[in-house]
Amino acid sequence: ESYDMGGHDTYMHKEISEQADAVDRVLRGRIDDRFSTVHLGGLNLDAREARGVRRIKILGCGTSYHAGQIGAQLIEELARIPADAEPASEFRYRNPVVDPDTLYVAVSQSGETYDVLAAVQELKRKGARVLGVVNVVGSAIAREADGGTYVHAGPEVCVVSTKCFTNTVVAFALLALHLGRIRDLSVADGKRIIDGLRRLPEQISEILGREDEIKRLAAEYADAKSMMFIGRVRGYPVAREASLKLKEVSYIHAEAYPASELKHGPLALIEPAMPTVAIVPDDDLLEKNRAAMEEIKARSGRILAVAHQVQEKADHTIVVPKNENELDPILMGIPLQLFAYHTALAMGRDIDKPRNLAKSVTVE
Ligand code: AGP
Repeated sequence: ESYDMGGHDTYMHKEISEQADAVDRVLRGRIDDRFSTVHLGGLNLDAREARGVRRIKILGCGTSYHAGQIGAQLIEELARIPADAEPASEFRYRNPVVDPDTLYVAVSQSGETYDVLAAVQELKRKGARVLGVVNVVGSAIAREADGGTYVHAGPEVCVVSTKCFTNTVVAFALLALHLGRIRDLSVADGKRIIDGLRRLPEQISEILGREDEIKRLAAEYADAKSMMFIGRVRGYPVAREASLKLKEVSYIHAEAYPASELKHGPLALIEPAMPTVAIVPDDDLLEKNRAAMEEIKARSGRILAVAHQVQEKADHTIVVPKNENELDPILMGIPLQLFAYHTALAMGRDIDKPRNLAKSVTVE
């Protein structure tokens, strides 16, 4: 994409709108239908080495950290390798145990975030193998890593990351599928995930086609002083990222919790002035999520659900197209990018350059 706004009023809107093409780009040339797998040329990790990986630790900051959280779930689900994500900014200050059988993955849009770069350098110094999942080609983190994959989101100008988040999660799905097919993921499941990945661009376009509806909903909730975002397992990192997006661009206070934790404290906050956005995928936790919404309704809380079918307990539902369970998080965050955008627009915020924030944090 070029750097001009191409008829959009803000880069954020332009970048949200580019996501179907961006996802198409990260998939292009990588799918191998013959073996129901994907090829990621730059990993520098052969099949024997991939089979030897006992654990994966993903390091990133902000939105990239959230993408890494979904990435860790994808790796556990598809490759059955224990995986987790941690803020790179914390990791290097806790004298972490660096284990030779752990594969480290640094994730960054800019490839220049100091906290991530410093974590990579510390890991390399201790002899760890580090891969990069990076957007900017040739950036410091991409150069420092032993290998990796580019996310091909194209230039992202708005300080607030949208299309790069989506593409980074898709890149993690590719990495998870690649590792899975080297390990124990069946041909049938490999094919199922590939078919799901191929459906994404069209499904993203379908979601973006509902912008007017999402804009109306944003106006409905723009009076909130504070918002709660909830989700479970696959939905939780989606809730975290959506909450960060709303905070960054509208300055409305937002909190994200696993829906299962509500009763352990945050339920005390629920009242009509604190609406909840609930991520409710049609998966094995659907009934649990419905029960959480019931708890909120019983406390007079307003609910906006993002779901695969209209939710009776919610005041409003944004219905998103269903994909494979593992890939649902990729789609469920997209309407909430538009929700944050339209909330901020209605409040007259400086959308592309929110106060106090920089696109790339190259200092500690
Ligand atoms: C994204 O909306 C934010 N601007 C911020 O959280 C960002 O994701 C973080 O600073 C990490 O940046 P990076 O992906 O370029 O490393």
